[in-house]
Amino acid sequence: MPTVLITGANRGLGLELTRQYLEKGWQVISASRGSSPTLDELSEQPGLEAYRLDLTDDAALSDFAAAIGERRIDVLLNNAGTMGRYNFAELGLKSGRFGSFDRSEWHEILDINLCTPMRLAELLVDQVAACERGRIITISSMLGSMGLNTVGGLYAYRASKAAVNAMMKSMAVDLAPRGIIAIALHPGFVRTDMSGPMAEIEAVDSAAGMIRVIDDVTLEDSGKVLAWDGSELPW
Ligand SMILES: NC(=O)c1ccc[n+]([C@@H]2O[C@H](COP(=O)([O-])OP(=O)(O)OC[C@H]3O[C@@H](n4cnc5c(N)ncnc54)[C@H](OP(=O)(O)O)[C@@H]3O)[C@@H](O)[C@H]2O)c1
Repeated sequence: MPTVLITGANRGLGLELTRQYLEKGWQVISASRGSSPTLDELSEQPGLEAYRLDLTDDAALSDFAAAIGERRIDVLLNNAGTMGRYNFAELGLKSGRFGSFDRSEWHEILDINLCTPMRLAELLVDQVAACERGRIITISSMLGSMGLNTVGGLYAYRASKAAVNAMMKSMAVDLAPRGIIAIALHPGFVRTDMSGPMAEIEAVDSAAGMIRVIDDVTLEDSGKVLAWDGSELPW
């Protein structure tokens, strides 16, 4: 069976993606800094290998990659992400306004949303290239789109996701000769801890849609920013 590696699998979208990939019979390798009762329960299934590590520590990432060794990874799914201290679930687009700059918060957001996917891609590129249709997918957001930004705010988070889109485009160009498809994927506005109950869709539907998109993408799609329903987002 194919293998997917998912970061931030202990809750939210990462947990739901893990659950659904296991249901499809895939082998799942998860990498999370913490656990949860549901992830612990899922890891009793033979299909799931759950690792706990500091995803922003390069030495820990290298050790993790070494533990995976030469196993093939069909899909590297960079999901872990944060809005930092923005209370988006409560304040929505009123959070992260101009005038609230905090350097340590910017570092925290860019570190996990952007730097970790970059480093993991470098560490695991050979394992992805070994697969027939290896894919590197990083969860982005419509908040990273310039074209869709009409209300401003959320500076660090928007910048991190816009940068994810640029990063995935470069990977699409650089890794095409190795047959790797690189996609930035918007999960929709989803009811998780991050977006709260006012969001539009359930994690179960977002994850199912993203899995369909990941199943279907080809090298022709590489470099695009796609949404969970298969539509393409403007830059
Ligand atoms: N929900 C939405 O509407 C929405 C929309 C667009 C994009 N997204 C993106 O979708 C992805 C998943 O979000 P979600 O809605 O599932 O959010 P969530 O419920 O808040 O879960 C976030 C996940 O990322 C992990 N994480 C956050 N900061 C981390 C760090 N510094 N080191 C290691 N792990 C860290 C969390 O682990 P801990 O439990 O250890 O904190 C958790 O597993 C993110 O990339 C997010 O930006 C979500």
